[in-house]
Formats: sequence, C-alpha cells, structure tokens
Amino acid sequence: MYDFRPDAALAKPELYRQLTAAATALTEGEPDGVANMANVAALMGEYLADINWAGFYRMVEGELVLGPFVGRPACIRIPVGQGVCGAAAASGETQLVEDVSAFPGHIACDAASRSELVVPVVRDGAVVAVIDLDSPSIARFDREDAAGIEALAEVLAARI
Ligand code: SME
Repeated sequence: MYDFRPDAALAKPELYRQLTAAATALTEGEPDGVANMANVAALMGEYLADINWAGFYRMVEGELVLGPFVGRPACIRIPVGQGVCGAAAASGETQLVEDVSAFPGHIACDAASRSELVVPVVRDGAVVAVIDLDSPSIARFDREDAAGIEALAEVLAARI
C-alpha cells in the first residue's frame, strides 16, 4: 500500500517538494509512461487542495491527446495553440490563468473550473506532454504552484 498523504498545513514549497519526492519514488525504475502519469495524477489529486481536475495531455502526432487524470471526463483532443493547454504546448511556457473566463479560447471541460495552471513537460527540447490543473476558485494558483509543478515536470520528462 502506498500512503503519501501530505500534511495539510505545509507551506507550498515544502508541499511541492514532498509531492515531487513522492512522484520520483513512485515512478523510479518504471518504464511505462501511462502507469507513471496515472500514479502522478492520483498523487496530485491527493496533495493539492481546491482542485477539480489534475492530469496530463500527451503530444501525439502534433496534437494534445487526453492522458491519465483525476476529475470529470474531459475533452480528448486539443490542437496545439488552442486553449490554455494548447498555449502551453505551442510556447513551451507555463500558463498561469487566474480567471479562465478572461483567457481567449479557453476550452471549458468542467463548467466548475475558474482558474488553471498548465506546465509543459519538455524532453530533448520538445514538448512531450502538459500537466493541467484546474480549480473551482479564482486565482487558486500562483508562482509557487507554477514552480512546484515545473519541478515535477522536470522529473517526469524522462519517465512518461
Ligand atoms: N481548459 C483546458 C482544457 C482541458 S480541461 O481543463 C481538463 C484548456 O483550455 O486547454
């Protein structure tokens, strides 16, 4: 049995340090990327408060395709350049969106989502996936969340 539940009172940098340590341990030595994404999606769901969706879109033949996640069923394919995920994939840069209704082209998968954080996973200079987090609260994510998920993405780049 795995029990990675964090202490709810942790400051964000420490919370993300523990999340990344747990993800590193869970994916260590496992070559199957889908299995690794599935466990990391579950970990994000356990570690992060006030989120309604957490998971992956993978780059497949030039478009983003839904990967393992926790949350409600979501749109399956997202063209690069469209929505928040597509913007992260096109630019290779983290997208921190305080209010999704103000983001041009935002793709609403769950009507409850109010803010979003999308971090590209880059391997050998190419975006191979994005990590997507949605929250029902406006401005749920800040630069500390972005830095924490970016550190997680770095570990996962060689493991998914
Ligand atoms: N809102 C995303 C789509 C994916 S769902 O949030 C799971 C976007 O605009 O790219």
